[in-house]
Amino acid sequence: MSQPTPLLTRDASLQALNTFGLPARAAWFTAIETPAQLAALIAWPELKRLQRFVLGGGSNLVLAGDFDGLVLHVRLTGRALIAEDADAWFVRAGAGENWHDFVSWTLECGWPGLENLALIPGTVGAAPVQNIGAYGLEMAERFHTLEAVDLETGETVVLDRAACQFGYRDSVFKREAAGRSLITAVTFQLPKHWRPITGYADVARELEAPGIIQPTAREVADAVIALRLRKLPDPAHIGNAGSFFKNPRIDAQAFQNLVARYPDLPHYPQPDGTVKLAAGWLIERCGWKGKTLGPVGVYERQALVLVNRGGARGEDVLRLARAIQASVRATFGVELEPEPVILGA
Ligand code: EPU
Repeated sequence: MSQPTPLLTRDASLQALNTFGLPARAAWFTAIETPAQLAALIAWPELKRLQRFVLGGGSNLVLAGDFDGLVLHVRLTGRALIAEDADAWFVRAGAGENWHDFVSWTLECGWPGLENLALIPGTVGAAPVQNIGAYGLEMAERFHTLEAVDLETGETVVLDRAACQFGYRDSVFKREAAGRSLITAVTFQLPKHWRPITGYADVARELEAPGIIQPTAREVADAVIALRLRKLPDPAHIGNAGSFFKNPRIDAQAFQNLVARYPDLPHYPQPDGTVKLAAGWLIERCGWKGKTLGPVGVYERQALVLVNRGGARGEDVLRLARAIQASVRATFGVELEPEPVILGA
């Protein structure tokens, strides 16, 4: 194949580029650091013929095997206040910016709104892909627009909230637009009439302990950081991809049947009449918390997180995931759906 101007690597290792630390190789690999590199790549005729995968921080990814296509690692940087009106600051960041560093920077600048999402691993460009959420806030609530390149047509598009089709840990980029849209930058709308979101019981408790009644955005961020450090494994030390399963939703009748059998079942009624359950609770009740299966296991402090105990491969992770799904199905009749993107299965 002819080579485009940007540097392409053949047969590249992806092990250092996924927080689970799983070994896998990509047939082709390129890092995109500048708009010029992106333009050169789009002009490359072979691009359309290859299967493509857009990689950010690799923190919501399970590499199930080698990928026989092109991995595009987005490293576009830059962050700036681009506009403001009476109600909001509009802040734009390159897709390759580290999410937590970006959140910290907005807080330092005095623009609140993203504090509940502090310390989530990954990049700014990956945040809309799964509509990251934590402690009572989803990214979609602070999202304004994003810029993306359509790798089929080479066109640059600006997408608003509706076009992104955000759902619970979901967007169009996990579905139709996967491998086709490459997000280059995201603009957030940060509220000038800000109020802290402290309804989540863990956050409320964390703030109450030191006697904080009217927290600043920085104090909310610090509470969230303390909670995350306590409950979730640091991918720098223990390979993982955050919550491995989505919290499942069941209909009202199924919920009534279950809660009759398990009165302490944590549950969150949804606006559409369905009820969301806590996957971590279901998994813990099936006895999986802290368990190990080969080189992988279920984290001791949060049953929703699967961890690499050393030397794991994608198939080990998927075997454990299937065993957990089977237990939860047999015990509760509930289907668990993986949350991370699974590549190369
Ligand atoms: N629970 C257990 N055992 C466990 C874990 C949880 O019984 O091992 C129970 C808790 O006691 C609580 C309920 O399950 O009653 C919910 O737990 P928690 O509040 O810790 O949150 P979660 O549902 O486990 C979700 C998100 C997290 C997010 C937290 C906080 C999903 C799949 N996970 O977890 O997101 O940080 O809420 O908002 O929605 C991620 O997506 O990667 C992620 C970490």
